[in-house]
Amino acid sequence: MTAPLISVKDLTIRFTTDEGLVTAVDRVSFDIAPGEVLGLVGESGSGKSVTAKALMRLNAGNTRYDEKSRIILNTGGEEIDVLSLKKPNDLRVVRGGAISMIFQEPMASFAPAITIGDQMVEQLLIHTDMTKAEAKEHSIEMLARVGIPEPARRFGQYAFEFSGGMRQRAMIAMALSTRPKLLIADEPTTALDVTIQAQVIDLMKDLVDEFHMAILFITHDLGVIAQTADRVAVMYLGELVETGEVRHVIREPHHPYTQGLLNALPKLDDLTAELTPVPGDIPSPLERPSGCVFHTRCPDLFSDRCKQENPELLKDARGRLVACHLVEEKGVQTKVPAAKTGAKSGAKTKAKSSARKSGTGKGKAK
Ligand SMILES: Nc1ncnc2c1ncn2[C@@H]1O[C@H](COP(=O)(O)OP(=O)(O)OP(=O)(O)O)[C@@H](O)[C@H]1O
Ligand code: SF4
Ligand SMILES: [Mg+2]
Repeated sequence: MTAPLISVKDLTIRFTTDEGLVTAVDRVSFDIAPGEVLGLVGESGSGKSVTAKALMRLNAGNTRYDEKSRIILNTGGEEIDVLSLKKPNDLRVVRGGAISMIFQEPMASFAPAITIGDQMVEQLLIHTDMTKAEAKEHSIEMLARVGIPEPARRFGQYAFEFSGGMRQRAMIAMALSTRPKLLIADEPTTALDVTIQAQVIDLMKDLVDEFHMAILFITHDLGVIAQTADRVAVMYLGELVETGEVRHVIREPHHPYTQGLLNALPKLDDLTAELTPVPGDIPSPLERPSGCVFHTRCPDLFSDRCKQENPELLKDARGRLVACHLVEEKGVQTKVPAAKTGAKSGAKTKAKSSARKSGTGKGKAK
């Protein structure tokens, strides 16, 4: 079995705020294999970006990682304990070196007063041993590779001179120019119209194959995940509630929340079909419900157990992980609690013995 490129274990993230300590991510674990595309879905506020930023240590100054949290990056021989990195030089490996990120709004990631080309060259000078001339040549090649016409001229332009779709392409070119092993794409297509969105998704798929790069693909939209990812992890209020191979999860979602996300998607073969969005709104992380965190909105809530006991992620025969008492009582899962991991089917998962009680983390915040 291939060793994971990145392994996230028991990641708990809290923020110190004026209202108190907010738990935004609660004991989340997943692995991403080299070259694999993992989709991370969930409604706004479920903790997707906070989880992704932890991999690059980009969360704000009020962030506290629980002491049990581990993020191990395997760069081929060397294992890096990401949460223990402190010096700016050491952090470079996860900030533009082995890991790169593309954001929802590319305007925010380009400095407005520096040309696109100069920003690309600077990044290459930091993360590779290219000369300035080589970095310029490579940047123009990358702009061409992502389909930007007249790349040599565009290299000398500013972000405001690019259209939205072109900025997104330029950001992909910049993120990929250092040949990262992991690309984090945080809602990379949400701000684009559907035609450009489809082109950008196709482009990313081609580049993944060509560069054998892994992607953590974050979106609200399970439809986009169906087109792009190998596996999917569904997140709700800071917890992973279901993970599995995309084709299995999309065809037969087990968790009521995943079912709700899929029912909310328009069906092109039946445009008259009524959409049934998940009822209600995601609660504030300051008011995490007791028991199953989804119980305040769950159409399948069936017993007091849902309100009192936070379900463990349990594994079925295909390696699907689901955290739901109802699914557990149907008996499709093994009784051995799996670690909260998105590891591939057949991958070794560490058993966890204690039942999760309510939504609060147990470890001490740093
Ligand atoms: N620095 C911070 N201080 C306090 N709370 C924060 C901070 N950063 C994020 N949060 C909170 O953490 C929770 C998760 O936020 P996150 O940005 O990860 O959501 P998301 O799933 O990416 O949502 P969206 O789909 O809207 O991007 C939110 O409730 C957010 O308000
Ligand atoms: S544990 Fe209960 S409340 Fe939670 S998702 Fe399952 S059925 Fe719904
Ligand atoms: Mg986000």
